[in-house]
Amino acid sequence: TQYSCIIVEQDGPVGVIRLNRPEALNALGQQITQELIHALNGFDTNNDIGAIVITGSDKVFAAGADIKQFQGRTMANMIKEDTLDWSSKIRAVRKPMIAAVNGYALGGGCELAMMCDIIYAGEKALFGQPEINLGIIPGAGGTQRLVKAIGKSKAMEICLTGSVKLNAQEALAAGLVSAVYPVDKVLPQSIKTAKIIASKGQIAAALTKSAINQSFEVPLEAGLLYERRLFQTAFGTEDRKEGVDAFVNKRVAKFSHL
Ligand code: HXC
Repeated sequence: TQYSCIIVEQDGPVGVIRLNRPEALNALGQQITQELIHALNGFDTNNDIGAIVITGSDKVFAAGADIKQFQGRTMANMIKEDTLDWSSKIRAVRKPMIAAVNGYALGGGCELAMMCDIIYAGEKALFGQPEINLGIIPGAGGTQRLVKAIGKSKAMEICLTGSVKLNAQEALAAGLVSAVYPVDKVLPQSIKTAKIIASKGQIAAALTKSAINQSFEVPLEAGLLYERRLFQTAFGTEDRKEGVDAFVNKRVAKFSHL
């Protein structure tokens, strides 16, 4: 497939998507989000891929939605065209996704990172939700996922001022990101983790992702029941037989994703 705003590569069992719209700081307009969804769906349905990494450039992960495309829009066409529907499609990806963030992750860029399952940040990363400066509010999870990641007071401060941003160390301390690396190490480290994940059974990985995400949706008792059922489900897989047999026989498991 020919893409114009992203670069798609495969590194062994890892799918890598690089946002590549430097002239607009990777602003998430129509074209780039369509391409992103297309590439993600390709990887999600590709048996050879076990995990996905989304990254930008050294300077910017993504500076948000494409503000220029907001000009002339009305409430009516925002509703009818539901331009943020791409974010629901990203949420539906079953394979684990890692955001490798360098530079700005603002507005929709911060939200895109939060749609991923793990975030690694480069030392110069900067996370923020400046939408209020445009007279709007975050629209793809900024008021929801950010609260869950870093708590109410910090999320309010970031979204209400539009100017408070988290640098990499602050994002680490707040729990928004898992680790901070030098700029040139973020992508390699992300791919390294993605390869570890990809070495597991894909079904177990998908069930794990689904169970952890369920914790955001339901009360504890219902979440525990969901987890129990998925745990039991895992016993129906070839990978479970292989994993347990490998342990007992002191060898490395070789998962078939069945
Ligand atoms: C469209 C953008 C853009 C954006 C930057 N550009 N961000 N175009 N949408 N979000 C363009 C600029 O217009 C400029 O192009 C070029 O990229 C370089 O940007 P500069 O501002 O000159 O760069 P710099 O001085 O380094 O400042 C970087 C920046 C700033 C601090 C990141 O660009 C900025 O504040 N951008 C907007 C951030 C933002 O408000 N994001 C939230 C968007 S709303 P030209 O050709 O004009 O020179 C949103 C809603 C979420 O995300 C909804 C869910 C997706």
